[in-house]
Amino acid sequence: MSSICVIGTGYVGLVTGTCFADLGNEVTCLDIDAAKIEGLKKGILPIYEPGLEEIVRRNYEAGRLCFTTSYTEAVPNAEFIFIAVGTPQGEDGSADLTYVEQAASQIAKHLAGHTIIINKSTVPIGTGDLVAGIVDRSLNGNRSTATFSVVSNPEFLKEGSAIQDFQHPDRVVLGSTNRQAAEQVAELYAPLSAPVIITDLRTAEMIKYASNAILATRISFINEIAQMCEALSADVKVVAEGMGYDKRIGPQFLQAGIGYGGSCFPKDVKALAHMAEQSNLHPQLLLAVMDINYDARRFFVQKIERTLGSVANRVIGVWGLAFKPNTDDMREAASVDIISLLVRKGAIVQVYDPVAMKTAQRVLPGAVTFCKDPYECADNADAVLLLTEWNEFKQLDMERVKGLMKKPVLLDGRNLYEPAEMGKLNFNYHSVGRPAVK
Ligand code: UGA
Repeated sequence: MSSICVIGTGYVGLVTGTCFADLGNEVTCLDIDAAKIEGLKKGILPIYEPGLEEIVRRNYEAGRLCFTTSYTEAVPNAEFIFIAVGTPQGEDGSADLTYVEQAASQIAKHLAGHTIIINKSTVPIGTGDLVAGIVDRSLNGNRSTATFSVVSNPEFLKEGSAIQDFQHPDRVVLGSTNRQAAEQVAELYAPLSAPVIITDLRTAEMIKYASNAILATRISFINEIAQMCEALSADVKVVAEGMGYDKRIGPQFLQAGIGYGGSCFPKDVKALAHMAEQSNLHPQLLLAVMDINYDARRFFVQKIERTLGSVANRVIGVWGLAFKPNTDDMREAASVDIISLLVRKGAIVQVYDPVAMKTAQRVLPGAVTFCKDPYECADNADAVLLLTEWNEFKQLDMERVKGLMKKPVLLDGRNLYEPAEMGKLNFNYHSVGRPAVK
């Protein structure tokens, strides 16, 4: 059993802290946001993540998990301190390290004995050295006898399946100048029986960016193929399936649609491209990946316009707002760009999402109407758009939907439905990279 402090109670910090507590460790989650911490103490989670609430409650009640805003309380007794704070995007695409720097200086002020500081936030290559420098200078300035090592331990959790991803990782990556410190962190993960890679700080940091970049590249690749499939009357879903059986290619992250969103891919691809440019390199592939991703949203709006003639004064229902299913996260959601464009072009937009209605209200244009269910959202609509592939939308009574709509026009941005079935139901059905049914 180890004593762990996790700084930051966002997706990464809260899932990491809670799951380590569930493995039997003593974990303190620290956040400077007092309202978040008060909520957590009452069992109110600041995020929606399936299964997390139950594990938080169980470990909190067992006394293995506690919450605080106080570095004085959390840092001195911790053997391991994970930094899992946000790294928002700076104006030029670089990652903003303000929160990481603040956490590092606060940790340094309260360190006692020997502590391993672990960076879990996605940080530009070189940040491990930066954190070490901040802590080192602060300890020297205070004539402290405390000692520390820095380890980079990037996370590979997906929102919506973060607990499963923590408990069954494909690999654990640890980078450090101190191999022994990395091995001690590896011990924390030992119960999960995953392959462990121990390397230097910068290589570990690059593994994180390169992993997200290749996944984003696969999505943009299949979206480019989808464009060609549309032009040449092929079916991208079957193309991806046919490619995916090749073990060298694999089936994952080849779903064509309206592109990637969320708090990671858009920011990380941009930050990696920025780092390349800072090094006088020309990251052509990453720049194309970003362009194609933006185009996927634009092309979808063009498809709506082609189908309806014009969108001005047309009633458009939108099913799904979150950047992907099983989350209420609206960061960089394709729905925001698509809806904003439609509203600007004069469309009357009504929306529904099973979970993200509250978060969506903060980011969608004021003119949008929020509906209580998918049927109300389809009521009187000239077209319905499917933008997030929630399970709930697979089970709908499509005859009822058709009866409610002004015209049975369905534009599926995630290829959730089967064209043949939609044809049988007499929908005018358009998806991405597959033949339309009219
Ligand atoms: C992503 C990575 O998958 C995680 O491994 C990583 O830890 C995380 O970023 C991070 O850096 O923190 P996440 O952003 O939660 O996780 O979501 P994904 O499931 O990867 O989906 C990202 C976006 O790509 C979504 O908008 C999704 O709809 C889209 N997507 C995904 C596609 O358009 N097609 C696909 O085939 C797969």
